[in-house]
Amino acid sequence: MTRTNSRRHPALAAALLLSIGVFFQGGSFQGAWAQDDAPATDPDSGLVQAEGWQVVKANCTVCHSARLITQNSGSRNHWEHLIRWMQDTQGLWPFQPEMEATILDYLAEHYGPKEDARRAPLPRQLMPDNPYSRPAEIGSASG
Ligand code: HEC
Repeated sequence: MTRTNSRRHPALAAALLLSIGVFFQGGSFQGAWAQDDAPATDPDSGLVQAEGWQVVKANCTVCHSARLITQNSGSRNHWEHLIRWMQDTQGLWPFQPEMEATILDYLAEHYGPKEDARRAPLPRQLMPDNPYSRPAEIGSASG
């Protein structure tokens, strides 16, 4: 009896160590995913909570949802044009230059042009066959 048990223990210990190892590896893997440098967003408006966000929230969510802002994006110029358009036609009030700079800095920084967020296109060999390509093209491609 005792002999059998002592022979089994090493295997048990090995299995235990293995599962602990797997557990910790899994834990650190999850930890890597959980490390998130993305800035916090205001749960109420969805605005990124960075410098100037309260000014934007106070002035830009009076007439419409903040979603119009968070779903929009563009250069400082784009935002400036939008503000002028709202001031000229939608009753948006004028801003003191300093406050306008704060708003534009915030918008251009956190809702700027999307170009750099785009994924590079897949290489041709990783893409599925084009179902619309004409038979002649298929023939010449395979030949
Ligand atoms: C006085 C009212 C008012 C205020 C304040 C206001 N807006 Fe607007 N905004 C409008 C109206 C009206 C529209 C058009 C809504 C629509 O198309 O449904 C609009 C549309 C927009 C759009 C969408 C434009 C598009 O291309 O569709 C964005 C983005 C926007 N506003 C951003 C802002 C920002 C940023 C501020 C703060 C600086 C702001 N708004 C403050 C009235 C306002």
